[in-house]
Amino acid sequence: MRTPIIAGNWKMFKTVSETLAFAEAVKGKAVVEGVETVICAPFTNLPALTEAVKGTGIKVGAQNLHFEDNGAFTGEISGVMLKELGVDYVIIGHSERRQYFGETDEIVNKKVAAAFRNDLTPIVCVGEKLEEREADQTKDVCKVQTEGAFKGLSKEEAAKVVVAYEPIWAIGTGKSSTASDANEVTSYIRTVLADLYDQATADVIRIQYGGSVKPENVTEYMGQSDIDGALVGGASLQPDSFTALVEGAK
Ligand code: G3H
Repeated sequence: MRTPIIAGNWKMFKTVSETLAFAEAVKGKAVVEGVETVICAPFTNLPALTEAVKGTGIKVGAQNLHFEDNGAFTGEISGVMLKELGVDYVIIGHSERRQYFGETDEIVNKKVAAAFRNDLTPIVCVGEKLEEREADQTKDVCKVQTEGAFKGLSKEEAAKVVVAYEPIWAIGTGKSSTASDANEVTSYIRTVLADLYDQATADVIRIQYGGSVKPENVTEYMGQSDIDGALVGGASLQPDSFTALVEGAK
């Protein structure tokens, strides 16, 4: 009942010309019935990408947005601006934003509200650091981050959110969480959502796993009861491997 979603997070990679070459290479590919495909590109590439994937079934996401719709915030981009470009998704609270740009749970929550104000679907990232995992705090960290992100959201809004569980120690390291360990945490996140709302709402919220997902391991994650897709960095950058990820998710 939950449509799997494979989202590539290109991070700070690819110019406009590289983006167009990628779009050309995946034309007619990277789309599988019953799986949603999303590419989250740098801001500068979004106009070209939304245009290039029109009619292909691939959806476009941004990697961040400001929590205000406009104002004196030099260098920032708002949800209003993204929506006009034809963007559908926005990643919020990625651990790199939390770590390098000081994003707190409160900021994440304001950004989630900004996404809904502008009819963008948030992909909210949660996940523990290595030392937190070693101190057996994984679930506590994910609970606090999930509750912080969903604060003030109605049941209808909550149902649309995509949560990405990304253990920080598994990002870009090649050290992925085992599928069953990841599923234990995503199942737990679903219980947190059921406590916040109700079981029926929690049951429709999609929860992705992220952290060194590649074509070779995506099927194993997708086979888990509470993993509904993947948020993929490195392996989403090449057309062939991105296509294989989407195909592996069906
Ligand atoms: O947003 C994506 C994650 O940070 C995972 O990155 O697939 O390169 O480990 P990765």
